[in-house]
Amino acid sequence: MTIKVLGISGSPHRYGNTETLLDKFLEGAKVAGSSVEKIVLKDLDYSPCRGCNACHKTGECIVQDDAIDLFDKILKSDCIAIASPIYSMGITAELKGFIDREQYLWARKFIVKTLYFKNDHIKKHKGIFISTAGLGWNNVFNGAFPIITALFNTLGFEFYDNIVANDMDRYGGIQQHPTALKEAFEKGQNVVRVLEKLNKT
Ligand SMILES: Cc1cc2nc3c(=O)[nH]c(=O)nc-3n(C[C@H](O)[C@H](O)[C@H](O)COP(=O)(O)O)c2cc1C
Repeated sequence: MTIKVLGISGSPHRYGNTETLLDKFLEGAKVAGSSVEKIVLKDLDYSPCRGCNACHKTGECIVQDDAIDLFDKILKSDCIAIASPIYSMGITAELKGFIDREQYLWARKFIVKTLYFKNDHIKKHKGIFISTAGLGWNNVFNGAFPIITALFNTLGFEFYDNIVANDMDRYGGIQQHPTALKEAFEKGQNVVRVLEKLNKT
């Protein structure tokens, strides 16, 4: 089977540090034989969650926009790479607005109980977080991890790995980082190989 890898860029800055790192990851995944697709959130048309809780009764979101199509696409993928720069010590508004919209899937799992992921499914679905930050602080990504963990949990993906590069202000951009782009390419290759192996068993 061909492994499906979906990259989602939450940066409003096209072709910047974060999208470049995501592109390298997708390049590695493609070289390893997977089919890859990239979605840029800023180009989609979706609104934030209204908190109406209608999904708690039906498991459906009453706002049928691009967010729903993207969640459908995610659920058909074997690997998702979620990319966001660090903004105000967290993720971007584009990504947070999208993640909140997964509430109808959360409702299907925990309230309506029409959605359930077996451990074997979770093992075969890998989530990767990709991020860059201006500051060189070791803990600069810590605000993002719980949100990404919640996203992967709800979608039935194992939080498999991070590809993060801090200190962008000092390096003057991702191209000058000594290891990040190579790491992203190799991790793209590796996750596809791991998934191919898992899907043979
Ligand atoms: C609105 C805004 C907020 C930011 N907030 C932070 C921050 O809190 N901490 C940090 O380390 N960098 C911060 N940065 C810097 C970016 O994380 C950094 O430049 C990143 O590499 C940009 O990625 P991009 O080229 O994909 O946009 C911020 C940048 C912007 C535009």
